[in-house]
Amino acid sequence: MTRRPYIVGNWKMHGTRAMLSEARAIDRAAQRHMKVEVAIAPPYTLIHPIHREAEQIAVGAQDCHHEDGGAHTGDISAAMVADAGASFVILGHSERRTGHGESDALVRAKAGAAFAAGLKVILCCGESAATRESGKAVAFVKKQLKASLPEAAQLPAELAERLTVAYEPLWAIGTGTPATTDDIAEMHSVIRALLIELLGEEQGPDVRILYGGSVKPDNAAAIFAVPDVGGALVGGASLTADSFMGIALAASEPFEN
Ligand code: PGA
Repeated sequence: MTRRPYIVGNWKMHGTRAMLSEARAIDRAAQRHMKVEVAIAPPYTLIHPIHREAEQIAVGAQDCHHEDGGAHTGDISAAMVADAGASFVILGHSERRTGHGESDALVRAKAGAAFAAGLKVILCCGESAATRESGKAVAFVKKQLKASLPEAAQLPAELAERLTVAYEPLWAIGTGTPATTDDIAEMHSVIRALLIELLGEEQGPDVRILYGGSVKPDNAAAIFAVPDVGGALVGGASLTADSFMGIALAASEPFEN
């Protein structure tokens, strides 16, 4: 099955209502790039206002709690972000894992909660610079992804539609220097093989695998030409419509045939 490339903006802790005009510009531009699936994950406070106006783009959250509700001051459940208009949630981002001590088991529980609430999930994985230097990147990512993915019984039937994996090496995030296309190719093929092993021949080949880490309009085409790259998770370059849609434009080309 050929999937549309998926280009997702992770706004992180950037954006007040002043950014709504940028979201509008992204939405308008996305209507001219129908071969690409464009989405943004703004801060929680902007999910509903963007969702209300968006005609083309999907809106998502950057995290959610693993429980449905209760005495969890400051937390937000999967059902709440869905109620605000989110159709997907990014889980296990390295800034959550390192900045908030999120374990693989917690990410797995969050993914189970998000699926149960009807959300799509973008599950992030990636190794640190130290792990790569020690030659253990492949083993680390395999273990991390396997332990972060819910058990088969908790996975929805239409999995390839609901699950996306994002490979984001920590050393490439926000540095301006993405991983090399060789490193991306190696890790994406490892992740593809693992998805087939865990999810089976039916679903494993169709789950999209995004690359994330310093994707910009000028390096995007080379990254999208790598086998098994199904799109990008974009931080800094997703904050303006110009740079974000420059990446979407690059995504519409290698997938044309
Ligand atoms: P970056 O962030 O594009 O700014 O490197 C990517 C991410 O953290 O998802």
